[in-house]
Amino acid sequence: MTDTAQPHSDLQDTTVFVLNGPNLNLLGLREPTIYGSQTLDDIAGMLEDRGQELGLEIDMRQSNHEGHLVDWLHEAQAVGAKAVLLNAGAYTHTSVALHDAIKAIKVPVIEVHLSNPHTREAFRHHSYVGMAAKGTVAGFGANSYIVALDAVSRL
Ligand code: DQA
Repeated sequence: MTDTAQPHSDLQDTTVFVLNGPNLNLLGLREPTIYGSQTLDDIAGMLEDRGQELGLEIDMRQSNHEGHLVDWLHEAQAVGAKAVLLNAGAYTHTSVALHDAIKAIKVPVIEVHLSNPHTREAFRHHSYVGMAAKGTVAGFGANSYIVALDAVSRL
């Protein structure tokens, strides 16, 4: 098949959406003993560096609003992104809408957490995101994102 015969959705198949949910804009300040001292910008820089090595482009976003995350999952599908790394923050544990959005798209979604929710409060043990995601990386701090990107590069 020639390039021109490829479906539109393949045009951006080197782009990885990295979607971050509520309170992650405060990384670096927020409970550093749990989440570390790196900011979301620091993590974006790490991902861009690793992405360059892997031939992947990073589209990093953050919102405190559930619907934005739903819209961005739909957008990942519409533009033919290769994958989504999703740290949905607390919406991980509450959002049927995110669960349904992940199920609704064909783009593989990898659940990412800085901390390991299973070692924390009981209300963090259930994940609506994880039930729908292709896989989960948790507990490695900022490196959870890098491990997830490495996994995506092998899909
Ligand atoms: C988190 C874990 C969630 O339980 C929490 O609500 C967050 C951050 C993490 O990255 O460890 O906001 O997703």
